[in-house]
Amino acid sequence: MEKEFPFVPFRYVVFFVMWTLFLLQTAVGDPRSQTVNITCGHQLEHNSSVFVPNFVATMENISEQMRTSGFGAAVTGSGPDINYGLAQCYGDLSLLDCVLCYAEARTVLPKCFPYNGGRIYLDGCFMRSENYDFFEEYTGPSDSAMCGNTTRKSLSFGESVRQALTRAVEAATSSNGYATTQMAVPGTVKESAYVLADCWRTLNASSCRSCLDNASASILGCLPWSEGRALNTGCFMRYSDKDFLNRAPENGSSRGTTVVIVVTVVSSVVVFVLALAIGVYILKRKNIEKKRRGSNDAEKLVHTLNDSSLNFKYSAIEKATGAFNEANKLGQGGFGTVYKGVLPDGREIAVKRLFFNNRHRAADFYNEVNMISSVEHKNLVRLLGCSCSGPESLLIYEYLPNRSLDRFIFDPIRGKTLNWEKRHEIIVGTAEGLVYLHENSNIRIIHRDIKASNILLDSRLRAKIADFGLARSFQDDKSHISTAIAGTLGYMAPEYLAHGQLTEKVDVYSFGVLVLEIVTGRQNNGSKTSEYMDSVVITTWKHFRSGTIEELYDPNLMLHNHHDSNIKSDILRVVHIGLLCTQELQSIRPTMSKTLEMLTKQEQLPAPTNPPFVDERTMELNDTCEDPFYALRGVPSSIATISDSSFCPR
Ligand SMILES: *[C@@H]1O[C@H](CO)[C@@H](O)[C@H](O)[C@H]1NC(C)=O
Ligand SMILES: *[C@@H]1O[C@H](CO)[C@@H](O)[C@H](O)[C@H]1NC(C)=O
Ligand SMILES: *[C@@H]1O[C@H](CO)[C@@H](O)[C@H](O)[C@H]1NC(C)=O
Ligand SMILES: *[C@@H]1O[C@H](CO)[C@@H](O)[C@H](O)[C@H]1NC(C)=O
Ligand SMILES: *[C@@H]1O[C@H](CO)[C@@H](O)[C@H](O)[C@H]1NC(C)=O
Ligand SMILES: *[C@@H]1O[C@H](CO)[C@@H](O)[C@H](O)[C@H]1NC(C)=O
Repeated sequence: MEKEFPFVPFRYVVFFVMWTLFLLQTAVGDPRSQTVNITCGHQLEHNSSVFVPNFVATMENISEQMRTSGFGAAVTGSGPDINYGLAQCYGDLSLLDCVLCYAEARTVLPKCFPYNGGRIYLDGCFMRSENYDFFEEYTGPSDSAMCGNTTRKSLSFGESVRQALTRAVEAATSSNGYATTQMAVPGTVKESAYVLADCWRTLNASSCRSCLDNASASILGCLPWSEGRALNTGCFMRYSDKDFLNRAPENGSSRGTTVVIVVTVVSSVVVFVLALAIGVYILKRKNIEKKRRGSNDAEKLVHTLNDSSLNFKYSAIEKATGAFNEANKLGQGGFGTVYKGVLPDGREIAVKRLFFNNRHRAADFYNEVNMISSVEHKNLVRLLGCSCSGPESLLIYEYLPNRSLDRFIFDPIRGKTLNWEKRHEIIVGTAEGLVYLHENSNIRIIHRDIKASNILLDSRLRAKIADFGLARSFQDDKSHISTAIAGTLGYMAPEYLAHGQLTEKVDVYSFGVLVLEIVTGRQNNGSKTSEYMDSVVITTWKHFRSGTIEELYDPNLMLHNHHDSNIKSDILRVVHIGLLCTQELQSIRPTMSKTLEMLTKQEQLPAPTNPPFVDERTMELNDTCEDPFYALRGVPSSIATISDSSFCPR
């Protein structure tokens, strides 16, 4: 600096440098995360228990790359459900804006489920996912232009657009596929045509050229309208009469060039003054922007959040988890990946990084967190807060060192840690937590996702229910359905699966499955029709009826208590209660408080009736229920809309 402007007084230089640093640090441009168009493929995924994890892993992998380079491509899996993904931010977005735009893209693209492919064009970025290698494709039948039709422009604007497009194609072809141009409209005071051109970075120069040639030709068809966007297989191009381009620094990236054609340059203006003028201009724009944004909820939310003890700074959490280091990963749940973190004060936390975040819903999300965090009970995992307004949605929970129940009961070695007394305590604790959720006077919460991996164990192996309340926030989100299908089918009550009928009895059913798993040490894998025959529920039911139930008990239970017949009758009683909870007819399943009473008091139990999918007389699988997946696939919009006739008639 000083060498360049030796004539400028030192304090101005200091001022200027500090100001530039300030702008660099705080400059958040416009992520332009509005969706322009989303197109889904026509091919259904092949096996959702393979497809969903592959898709999620690809999104996560790309997410890492986007943070550092504004571009990402990844491949996960093999076979028919292999997942190829590509995402790219257009060259004028800062990396922070890029993360925001990508967060939006990956929130919206799962709408294509259960179709296995799709592409989404936003104004700031692009994302595509397929089950084949499309990385070098640059043209295709869905290439199209979208014209904005609000304002009709003059012929001379059209001429400027034409020139700006030509220059952009030239500039982009000779510099890594990205360029922006601005062309003043002759005969007007301040009017210009603004153009952005960007090829996906997987293309070579000649493919990029062909794509942009086609794109510029097709958006010329939008004239005389003020806006045109080309959505091509290998590139994105846009012209506008509005200055939509970000002039933010490009984080040292040397990719692309920006051609700014200044028509009238007043002669020898001191460079420093010009820089200052630009600075003032940017600052003004930022202020205008701020005022505009200030009127909406997001700004208010930021104020609320800053004053709230529930709010954690995104950067603080990033630090606590070692930037979401793989080594700190605790596991993957239905809604996101969980990491362990340590706060500066030494407190250990568990951070859930939600897959499907949507910053436009930050306000709702915060309200939801606020509400959930008010629900406190010894058998519920405590929600400490969230990072609601950062680039991603994070939930912060207390950390439980023993992690989840499934790690114990389905593991023959760790299973030894849990004798019958402990298991009984866990069953009762879970029931108490559920009673609290169902009957809490302020908010009634139906958990919907009770399963062994959602029961966490504290240092003394006491049960704490995780993830409650989340399903509520995501109830309109189809992604929840897809994760449910992927992971939790075996725990879902038949009336919820078939008709989306949601009552507390849905949790009672899942609780019953869990109880039977805890006793048998077997996992209920009800993800396929044939497996319903072998599901823990059906198997237990059969053995219970034929008086051979003891054969099913987890060997770890009998280890120490071989001779104790009291314990045997205790276990039998709990199995009996489990079967009452998994009865097909929800009306005769007990409530959670009734269940708790039966577990803790020695009262007479009614005889259980049959669990779902079994014909009472023949003891055989009800074969009108061909494939529950089939019914789900047929109606992708929502589980709740599946018609009665498409599922098992009763
Ligand atoms: C789906 O894939 C899983 C894992 O490979 C497999 O266990 C399951 O049988 C498959 N389901 C179907 C319906 O093909
Ligand atoms: C992302 O995927 C690429 C291959 O597609 C792989 O080489 C890389 O290790 C993955 N990165 C992460 C963080 O999973
Ligand atoms: C560029 O890529 C396309 C598509 O993959 C290919 O057909 C073409 O031969 C490549 N051109 C050059 C010069 O490498
Ligand atoms: C997206 O583009 C496709 C064709 O390219 C078109 O059929 C579809 O209507 C567009 N969708 C929207 C929402 O504009
Ligand atoms: C412009 O587009 C809007 C929706 O985008 C549509 O409602 C309107 O009819 C269109 N007007 C013209 C003149 O095409
Ligand atoms: C661009 O390419 C598409 C797909 O190949 C083609 O249908 C369209 O006519 C081309 N447009 C122009 C203007 O060349």
